[in-house]
Amino acid sequence: MSAQSGPSLLIDNIGELVTNEPYGEGGPLGLRRHAALLVEGGRVAWIGPAKYAPAADGRIDAEGAAVLPGFVDSHSHLVFAGDRAPEFAARMAGQPYTGGGIRTTVGATRAASDDTLRANVSRLRVEALRQGTTTIEIKSGYGLSVADEARSLRIAGEFTAETTFLGAHVVPAEYADRPDDYVGLVCGPMLRAALPYARWIDVFCERGAFDADHARAILTVGQAAGLGVRLHANQLGPGPGVRLAVELGAASADHCTHLSDADVEALAGSATVATLLPGAEFSTRSPYPDARRLLDAGAVVALATDCNPGSSYTSSMPFCIALAVREMRMTPAEAVWAATAGGARALRRDDIGVLRRGARADLTILDAPSHLHLAYRPGVPLIRQVLHNGVPQCQ
Ligand code: NIG
Ligand code: FE
Repeated sequence: MSAQSGPSLLIDNIGELVTNEPYGEGGPLGLRRHAALLVEGGRVAWIGPAKYAPAADGRIDAEGAAVLPGFVDSHSHLVFAGDRAPEFAARMAGQPYTGGGIRTTVGATRAASDDTLRANVSRLRVEALRQGTTTIEIKSGYGLSVADEARSLRIAGEFTAETTFLGAHVVPAEYADRPDDYVGLVCGPMLRAALPYARWIDVFCERGAFDADHARAILTVGQAAGLGVRLHANQLGPGPGVRLAVELGAASADHCTHLSDADVEALAGSATVATLLPGAEFSTRSPYPDARRLLDAGAVVALATDCNPGSSYTSSMPFCIALAVREMRMTPAEAVWAATAGGARALRRDDIGVLRRGARADLTILDAPSHLHLAYRPGVPLIRQVLHNGVPQCQ
């Protein structure tokens, strides 16, 4: 054991290791059979055949199970209070989803104490971790005042480095008849208050939320202040969001449910990831985005939960993988890649979503022999153990 890196840990007897790194005949997931993986100092120190595994201070026997990189959930809205179960029930009885319920959550969030918000994020973060998520992006967007957006981001920052300022989620009720003034607030005082706590900026660019001109103004000023750009685009109908995301060099255009051929082409020819959120279509009973069309055109696709109390109250990446395979014409391998390496691309990270020497030792050991089981056995708790920064997490 080296004093600098702490005790080493060997994950031995791995039946199938998903690396997401090119490896022989391992396909896009870089599958390796009968493998072992050594963790040192929170990083992957060695990967190779189990029979050549080095000695280590500790050992976990994977007993022939599959091991894969921890899920990277690149889109969630965890800072909120209350829930909207009655709204969900009304939808299942035929009501459409319009995003109008966001203001209900804004009211509950503003009225909640810091401790209530923190406890809610913590509960959902643990829930996600138990389902294999080792990195999660968390947005603000239910505060919509200078103080409430800043505190939402401050609390989000206690749980992740991937924090996103979404002051432009909807125009809050008190600005309903002067949306230009609200955009001015977002671009000025609210952005300044958010900056110390945010890595990204996002806008809900949709009819009923923010149009392309407002979205461009907000994202451009955020980008100039040093934030990375991501965008809620083309969720409820066709629109300019995806093309705006590509124009601004956004890391990700999220939802991508209603795309024209030009949108698909723009994404395919860009470094902007198409992040698909099938939990939202499930929970709003809407048509799913066509992942096959994006993949066949050459776009990079990520999967994320969109966990929020309105349109997608799930923290489960395995559930999203199963939906993507069953409903969006993705292969199981494509869905697993999109939920790991794809999410990392959407966050412009190269230290997560892959298992190679030097990468973060963020990984999950499944209660299954293959990654295929994540879609093949929907709704079954298949996450046996999770390591985050090389440390086994309580399950
Ligand atoms: O990504 N579309 C905008 N925001 C969320 C929904 C928020 C809500 O309904 O509370 C989403 O689906
Ligand atoms: Fe969202």
